[in-house]
Order: sequence, then C-alpha cells, then structure tokens
Amino acid sequence: MALERTFSMLKPGILSRRIAGEIIQRIERKGLDIIALKLMRVSRELAETNYGEHRSKAFFDELVEYIISGPVIALVLQGDNAVRRLRTLCGPTKIDDSQPGTIRGDYAMHINLNIIHASDSPESAAREIALFFKPEELFEWKDGNNDWI
Ligand code: PPS
Repeated sequence: MALERTFSMLKPGILSRRIAGEIIQRIERKGLDIIALKLMRVSRELAETNYGEHRSKAFFDELVEYIISGPVIALVLQGDNAVRRLRTLCGPTKIDDSQPGTIRGDYAMHINLNIIHASDSPESAAREIALFFKPEELFEWKDGNNDWI
C-alpha cells in the first residue's frame, strides 16, 4: 500500500455554513492524518494558478470568484492511498452522481458551489501542496494507538 499525501481545500461555503468541524471530522474518522491545516484567504493569483488547467473552461471565472469569496481551510492529509481515499470520501464532482454518505452527496446542491476540493493524482497533490504550504508548515506525527495494541 502506498503512503501518500494529498491536498484538500474546504471552500468558502464550508465556513459560512458552519460545517467545518463536521467535514474535518469525516476526514479524521476515515483515518487520514492531518499533517497541515490553515485558515486562509486565497488570492486571485493563487486561485488562477491552482485551477490553471481549467482556464479555457466556461466555468473558470465563476470558480475563481467563488474560491476568493471568503476564507478557505487548506489541508494536507497523509495515509495509505490518500489521494484515492479522499476522492472517494468526497464523491464525484457532478452533484447528481454523488451518493448520500459522501461529502458532496450530503452537503452540496450545485456544482459551482461544491464545498470541497481534493487532488486528483499524487502529482497534482505535490503541486498543490507546494502552492499552498511551505515545507516547514507540514508536521508528520506518529499515531500512538499502535503502541496500545
Ligand atoms: S473537468 O471539466 O472535468 O476537467 O472539470 P472537473 O475536473 O470536474 O472540475 C474541475 C474543477 O472545476 C470545478 N467545476 C466547476 N466550477 C463551477 N462551475 C461549474 N459548472 C464547474 N464544473 C466544474 C470543479 O468543482 C473542480 O474544482 P474542485 O475544486 O477540484 O472541486
């Protein structure tokens, strides 16, 4: 099993709906380690760089405006197959395909206001982590539970 890191962003709707705790709890309960977390306001430049591959898409401007509309919570998560596991937890981007039980399936009604971003590959994760965090902002920690078993 590959130990991976992935990047997630809880988008502005999460804070305004007061559900940050619930979403972070789901991520923790899954078993992913939070190794970095910060509340931040994304600049237009950072948003445009992060979503650069979608620049030609019709939704690009709307997506950028949403991301910069309020504070986000940026996270780096670590665990076995973390990229795939977090994507599964989030559910598909298209809301009608997102099953109840997934984060998007449970909390999002509109694709343009979907509430969480999760890296789509280990390569994207590495790029996004480097855009949002300095190396010294990442903290690996040992899960002490194993010592008791
Ligand atoms: S695509 O077209 O398949 O490459 O797009 P996709 O990978 O599904 O989505 C890329 C990001 O764009 C967001 N998105 C949208 N935002 C606003 N409006 C519309 N219609 C829309 N469609 C897709 C989507 O949520 C992805 O952002 P993240 O942050 O990864 O969720």
